[in-house]
Amino acid sequence: MRTSQPKTIYLSEYRVPDFLVDHADLRFELFEDGARVHSSLSIRRNPEAHGQGSPLELNGDSLQLQSVHLDGRELAKDEYEDRSDLLVVPSVPDAFELRVVTWIEPQNNTRLEGLYKSSGMFCTQCEAEGFRCITFFPDRPDVMARFRTRIEADKAAYPVLLSNGNPVDSGELDNGRHFVTWEDPFPKPSYLFALVAGALVEKNDTFRTMSGREIDLRIYVEPRNADKTAHAMDSLKRSMRWDEETYGREYDLDIFMIVAVDDFNMGAMENKGLNIFNSSCVLARPESETDMAFQRIEAIVAHEYFHNWSGNRVTCRDWFQLSLKEGFTVFRDSQFSADMGSPTVKRIEDATLLRTAQFAEDAGPMAHPVRPASYMEISNFYTLTIYEKGNEVVRMIHTLLGPELFRKGSDLYFERHDGQAVTTDDFVRAMEDASGRDLSQFRLWYEQAGTPVLTVEDDYDEASQTYRLTVAQSIPDTPGQTGKKPQHIPFALGLLAANGTDIPLTLAGEHSAGVTTRVLELTEKSHTFEFTGIASRPVPSLLRNFSAPVRVNYPWTRDQLMFLMSHDSDGFNRWDAGQRLAVEVIRELSGHAEAEVDPRLVEASRTLLNDRDADQALVAKMLQLPTEAYLIELADKPDVQIIHHARERVVKVLATALREELLDCYRRQQPAEPYQVTPEDVASRSLRNMALSWLLHIGDEGALSLALGQFESATNMTDQAGALRALVNSPFEAERGRALEAFYQRWHQDPQVVEQWFSIQAASPVTGDLPSVRRLLEHEAFDWKNPNKIRSVVGAFAGQNLVHFHDQEGSGYRFLADTIRRLDDSNPQIAARLAAPLTRWRKFAPVYSEGMRKALESVRDKDGLSRDVYEIVHKSLAD
Ligand code: TRP
Ligand code: ZN
Repeated sequence: MRTSQPKTIYLSEYRVPDFLVDHADLRFELFEDGARVHSSLSIRRNPEAHGQGSPLELNGDSLQLQSVHLDGRELAKDEYEDRSDLLVVPSVPDAFELRVVTWIEPQNNTRLEGLYKSSGMFCTQCEAEGFRCITFFPDRPDVMARFRTRIEADKAAYPVLLSNGNPVDSGELDNGRHFVTWEDPFPKPSYLFALVAGALVEKNDTFRTMSGREIDLRIYVEPRNADKTAHAMDSLKRSMRWDEETYGREYDLDIFMIVAVDDFNMGAMENKGLNIFNSSCVLARPESETDMAFQRIEAIVAHEYFHNWSGNRVTCRDWFQLSLKEGFTVFRDSQFSADMGSPTVKRIEDATLLRTAQFAEDAGPMAHPVRPASYMEISNFYTLTIYEKGNEVVRMIHTLLGPELFRKGSDLYFERHDGQAVTTDDFVRAMEDASGRDLSQFRLWYEQAGTPVLTVEDDYDEASQTYRLTVAQSIPDTPGQTGKKPQHIPFALGLLAANGTDIPLTLAGEHSAGVTTRVLELTEKSHTFEFTGIASRPVPSLLRNFSAPVRVNYPWTRDQLMFLMSHDSDGFNRWDAGQRLAVEVIRELSGHAEAEVDPRLVEASRTLLNDRDADQALVAKMLQLPTEAYLIELADKPDVQIIHHARERVVKVLATALREELLDCYRRQQPAEPYQVTPEDVASRSLRNMALSWLLHIGDEGALSLALGQFESATNMTDQAGALRALVNSPFEAERGRALEAFYQRWHQDPQVVEQWFSIQAASPVTGDLPSVRRLLEHEAFDWKNPNKIRSVVGAFAGQNLVHFHDQEGSGYRFLADTIRRLDDSNPQIAARLAAPLTRWRKFAPVYSEGMRKALESVRDKDGLSRDVYEIVHKSLAD
């Protein structure tokens, strides 16, 4: 338990490690009442370190030390110091063998960091600093060792024993026990270590690499999940092929393993050769998982696989460099998903997440640069900024260099740094060296926090046929950072003529090249671009395909937005124009409950619904109204209740006016069997379920029978859950209750489906009032030890059910604070993540912010607060 204030770690204080570990030889004795870990390390002084006489210091956390041997001799108690978080051996030679035995209790490990038990199996999570919960070690990513791991356990209970690399030995032991020894030939940081022991079934496949090697692919799951591995296996093979074709990267071991575990703090983990996944991010079959789950699984399997190069072969020097592997790997997985499905839809989804959640983070008290300069608890920095803004930063390099030079840059990066632990600066330098481009100003994207704002003004001169566009940039202050320098921003632009076609773009003084989308490079506070040969006033299409993670302000009229919605050749901007129109219409109603809903939004939606020639995947996205969370993010001192009711009203007006079109859309959108996750079929199901939910929202009796029929007869979870959600959010009370009950009876044995059932209820304005949410916590299927269950009830309530969470009496805030206090001792990572919605308290109108602040204070005042929650709460409350 913590008593003093946690300390801040600074990037500027980075020092190379004093000692290096060449080999780590581990032996695990696994028992029901604990595990004995024998660690044998070959250690030598780092020739590049300064303090040549410095003591040996190894990190530890919650370990019971049993013995220490140095070069075969047991050390007496006064020859080392066992502080709780550090093992110090004051005098050691320049090279030596250290043997340490520790005892740990995986069965009592509720933090899910280090070695723990999940539904009867042993598993590990070592990133970022979990290895120190297993044994004493220099637990930092720039110490890379070759690992050899022997696991011993009861053979009947734990027939499968896994670790990184290749199995090199196995055999029987006394008392019904057995062992397997694994050896990983690649030096790696301790955060990539993994171990699994359990009664798992193995699903096999193979992959032939580009050089002709045959790789053994294995997915390990509990027997009850044996029918849910096919999609992940296909996704894995597609990822392996794609990385060869797109980046020239071949897999390097003979075996690649994936294990599914139910209790997991995050999505998945890229341990070398042994990826460990949250069950919900790997297991799927059409009957029980939705399209969204299928797409998420494909992306996460790819993400973890791609880490084998961007993260494992080339890793991070220190945790300030986290985005080196995460930003680049998210970029790689989003390119992959775009190639596998609809690139425009993928771009819309990425931009939506960024603009809704990352922009909010970047405008709040936890705002930090893509390469942070300090932290208290590194687990708090697995953020949208590191992952999603980090992805955007790599994407901008790709845009600036073009695909060929970017590939030359990534080739150089992998070749130059293979086997090393490096920095984001090394990444940018490889891109510069391969392309000859100067990215020195571009590096500010890694150093400055905050979302740049672009203010665009234009004017057209008919006499000279010129169009002038002025773009000014500014970057808001963030905690600890003021007076920021202008950044290097790729700004993709198009101009539309009155007939809706793209105008070729020629800057003054240039010869026409006939290009209709240009990437302008903004580097100054303000730039003016002058285009010549423009026959009439154009409508600008700005930041095409979301070419940079910035906000854009330009005074489009609603008619211009309607025009862009139907004519822009850039699909992303067609969608964005529709979003901007909807935002304006909803805003106009906010606080004016009786005001008319602009009929142009109704007509634009009608046109979309009737347009059978358009790309239906894009149509499905365009018909979705901006979420409450996005409307709140855009507003200054938002009043959540008012925003909620204004948006509801627009849904009702649209559903009422478009009843016939919606029914027609519902009947038309019937994807063929068998179930497939193609962009067309996904769009079709999405349109169908949207039509259903709008119609049920207004209590349409005809739609009720369609929903009940779909609920009964659906052969896939997208349609079954779509019908359930529509019923839950409808005014049909009796049907809603019966559907919820029937769904639970049918699926109560499948925890992943039960999680969906929880979150549909907790996120619903109809069924997700606080007393009902509290009842879900008492439900037999709820489990405080399982992060997925907590997320599906508490996370869904606080993150999606904004009208109830932001109850003006503050009951939602107090509930969340109580939950955080309760979880702080058992699982601090999850507790800290749950606190995110409260941290934005300053943004809200006073009726809300007061209650949010009080809730944060009640968390702050808890005794023995974890470092994770301490950092979030104190930074949020600081002036
Ligand atoms: N590196 C993992 C990824 O991005 C995520 C991760 C970091 C993680 N820390 C974790 C997963 C802790 C589980 C628990 O793919
Ligand atoms: Zn990752």
